[in-house]
Amino acid sequence: PELADAFIADAVEAVRAQVGGGKVLLALSGGVDSSVVAALLVKAIGKQLISVHVNHGLMRKGESEEVIEVFRDGMGANLIYVDASDRFLGLLEGVADPETKRKLIGGEFVNVFAEEAARLEGVGFLGQGTIYPDILESEEGVKAHHNVGGLPQDMDFELVEPVKLLYKDEVRVVGRQLGLPESMVERQPFPGPGLGVRCLGAITRDRLEALREADAVVREEIEAAGEDIWQYFCVVPDMRATGVRDGRRAFDWTVIIRCVNTVDAMTAEVPELDWPLLRRITARVLAEVPGVCRVAYDLTPKPVGTIEWE
Ligand code: XMP
Repeated sequence: PELADAFIADAVEAVRAQVGGGKVLLALSGGVDSSVVAALLVKAIGKQLISVHVNHGLMRKGESEEVIEVFRDGMGANLIYVDASDRFLGLLEGVADPETKRKLIGGEFVNVFAEEAARLEGVGFLGQGTIYPDILESEEGVKAHHNVGGLPQDMDFELVEPVKLLYKDEVRVVGRQLGLPESMVERQPFPGPGLGVRCLGAITRDRLEALREADAVVREEIEAAGEDIWQYFCVVPDMRATGVRDGRRAFDWTVIIRCVNTVDAMTAEVPELDWPLLRRITARVLAEVPGVCRVAYDLTPKPVGTIEWE
């Protein structure tokens, strides 16, 4: 905590020196890195930070609400909330190919963000949640840097990257010290395209809603059980299975629970979840989530499976 305080004090100084009286724009997804950067920048420059949270309609249950609650209500941050759900879901209608879905979601995200940015005046800086492993990975050419380069070329901003020399666990310590809730600081990884790549195949609103509700149950139960699992979620395939409910034939969706432990997401193992926990999740999903008549647990390690299903 003392080290974190020292880091925060230095970072605040550095940001103030870099930005002066200027305005900083930040895409605030609610992930660990962007949340910590937002909290740090609010502390450093207050209302000179303009955060934009784009809800693409593929967020987990309660996630956008938490971003608003923590930053706007809790910290008095200057936060623009854009509910772009209809726009994204409209664009994705009928699109089943995973890579096409990813490209559409990523591209539309940039469009929405750029439109918001164009509405603002006098913004000279762009805040980013770049962390040290991002820099290492892009130097090694392992993957394109997902934090840099996603924005249109004509947006001419100077970058503000206050946590770019920190590792993930250090970012979490700083976030905690800045008063962010544990749910945010310890948030499990969540892909940029969100539930979009977990509602398999062509996304429909009703199946997406079933996925969101089932995902909330999985998270609640695993967290309540105190299980320490790296990533846990579910997917809902675009096919139906036969069941029987209240004495009548049902033909509904399957929720597949996916849990993995990993160090670097390159390989992953499936934890041996406590059987009563699996049974509780199953019972709740079947009782609480409309349109689902089956629950399965995915036993596949990576490799051969990937962590996500598409
Ligand atoms: P896979 O499925 O490749 O996932 O084993 C490895 C890790 O990366 C996450 N993931 C993504 N993250 N955009 C992201 O920001 C994506 O398109 C994406 N696809 C997978 C996945 O959740 C896991 O942690």
